[in-house]
Amino acid sequence: MDQKEINQDYNSYQKEDHDTWALLLKRHKALYKNCVSKEYVNGFNKLRLHESRIVRISEINERLEALSGWNLIPVTGLIPTRDFFYLIVNKKYPVTIFLRKPHEIDFSEQPDLFHDVCGHVPLLTNEKFVKFLTAFSIIALKYAANERAINLLGRLYWFTYEMGIINEENLRKPYGGAIITSAEEINNMNNKEVPIHPFDLDLIFQASFNPYKLQKEYFVIESFDDLFNCLENVETKLIEHLSLPDNDYTIRNYSLNTCIGKDFKNVIGFLNDVQYKFPKAISFVAGQPDEYFFDIENNISKFDRYVNHIVAKSGKSRKAVINGIGQYNKTKGIINDILAEYLKNDENINLTGDDIIVTVGAQEAFSIILSTVCNRATDVILVEDPSYIGVSSFAKVFDYNISGVRIDENGIDLKELKRKIIEINGSGKQVKLLYVIPDYQNPSGTCMPIGNRLMLLEFARQYNFLIIEDSVYNSFTYEQKKNPTLKSLDRNNKVIYVGSFSKSLFPGLRLGLIGANQRIENEAGDSVALIDEMAKIKAQLTNNTSTINQAILGGVLLDLNCSLSESSRPKFESYKRKRDQMISSLQKYIKVYEFDWACDIKWNEPNGGFFIKMSVPFVINNESVYESASEYNVIFCPMRNFYLQNGGENDLRLTFSNLSLDEIEKGIKQLSQYLKSKVIAKDISISSKKLDHRSLELPTTLTSRTD
Ligand SMILES: [Fe+2]
Repeated sequence: MDQKEINQDYNSYQKEDHDTWALLLKRHKALYKNCVSKEYVNGFNKLRLHESRIVRISEINERLEALSGWNLIPVTGLIPTRDFFYLIVNKKYPVTIFLRKPHEIDFSEQPDLFHDVCGHVPLLTNEKFVKFLTAFSIIALKYAANERAINLLGRLYWFTYEMGIINEENLRKPYGGAIITSAEEINNMNNKEVPIHPFDLDLIFQASFNPYKLQKEYFVIESFDDLFNCLENVETKLIEHLSLPDNDYTIRNYSLNTCIGKDFKNVIGFLNDVQYKFPKAISFVAGQPDEYFFDIENNISKFDRYVNHIVAKSGKSRKAVINGIGQYNKTKGIINDILAEYLKNDENINLTGDDIIVTVGAQEAFSIILSTVCNRATDVILVEDPSYIGVSSFAKVFDYNISGVRIDENGIDLKELKRKIIEINGSGKQVKLLYVIPDYQNPSGTCMPIGNRLMLLEFARQYNFLIIEDSVYNSFTYEQKKNPTLKSLDRNNKVIYVGSFSKSLFPGLRLGLIGANQRIENEAGDSVALIDEMAKIKAQLTNNTSTINQAILGGVLLDLNCSLSESSRPKFESYKRKRDQMISSLQKYIKVYEFDWACDIKWNEPNGGFFIKMSVPFVINNESVYESASEYNVIFCPMRNFYLQNGGENDLRLTFSNLSLDEIEKGIKQLSQYLKSKVIAKDISISSKKLDHRSLELPTTLTSRTD
């Protein structure tokens, strides 16, 4: 049998690993007390797992062999479906020897020893349960080559082995391994809005599931006899369902870009889910512009202003001009000269219309720049860490090399940047791009002093890389004067400027721009305009940006003499009032010098932008968001979501841009109550008890699972 059986090299575990195990066990025991199946608890107690050091599989085997005749087989990771069932039939259970790292304490994307041993092994001591498991595996072996059958059997496996619930003395208690190792899932199970159906094979075969989300339904058995007894009918039912058309229209056995799931945090999806689930909670999450200042109908009416301008300029008829706008059009854009004038007026940036591409928001700009400049094999993109995820997510999904550079209160840490560049360039790869938000950075609110800006430009010259300047918050300053953009200081043409009108006008306009005046010597030795090379990529992505929307923006800008500064003043003043309200509310409800509980809480006071970073003396993760939303009606964003790998474990991001002054005060008051409760309780288990292992489970089939 071709599988990855190995020995558990016990000496390879470090002290850190044993500490992780001890913490996991401590939290697990606190979690399962009184709320999980007694059959599971009996099994768990029989195993007598060592709580302060990692279990030796050989030791568990001695006990397990005596108790039930089963043995655990150490494996390195995923094993083929057929091998898995073959092992089960032979009373062998594959257990991965890998243990998650401390930073994965709440969530490990890989199956690990803790999940396998604590989630599943206890029930291997239960005679009735293993009778079911063995008989199920015999059936599954018969169908191992049939993807659809395995998918259907996978549903039975999922709603029993992983998400099973049993009725014990009129109380519903989980026995499935995935639910037992996740407090969040247990809470979900106890939510009266989530249906728990009586165990029913037909229903289970029809029930789809998502292993990465909280379950939408569960199935409860009356005793483990129900499981074994159902197998009598399982093949008949299976064949019945296999002969039905696949009515969910899901295409299976057809994998997509694997980078989508790899190391790619669906931050926005998660936060949207929380907001949807707790609609009354005040949300400091979304960095949305204030809708009060949207002037959409008036903006749209400026389409005419643009048309009249072109009619006057070109001498063409109105109809011809309008039809021209409606036609396929220039890839680089149709309002480039107007945008060049706007950049000159508002940002002191000297570019011509030829140096500009009008893009579908800033996000398209990033994708064009990365795709034009970088080779996957040899080039590296550096980003501030933490940072807005637009660039890093694109790089991850399309498999570009990306690396983070830490930031401090002055933005990117220049010493660290230099060290990183030397390290990467010395390794045979080349740093080609650095992405920065110099002004009031998302998510940290930090701002780069002018001395650092000049030094950064010098680095770019010295180490021959280009800077992507995301200037989205540059205008949103709450000081007298805004900072000079990097591009306005760029004497060596090292900066690619990215602008957006989503914050300054409204996001639905979907307009941004790339400003790049570099010339690049290509492989043939010819000097080409970088912006024209980018236009070749843009042509492949979207052909050209909506010309109707460009005409609207063109008209808006023409109407305002190609400057948004004056007309935006009331908006900037309003954001400043909100920032002030945030700071004064924080000072009012979290008195760091008066309240003992508040003495280790810190926040910054940015002079612009939409974001405040807060540090607290306990761990902040996605579960903290759920807890705060459900118990205190306030939502924030864990800062860790903005880091490439690790970091920000004690930090959160607060956004105030689309809240009223009253909402801000109320939200901060509620936030302070949440923070106070956490600090006073100092009970780590409250924030960390929710061991979410759903990602360790079968995606849609039983394929390649060890558990
Ligand atoms: Fe599992």
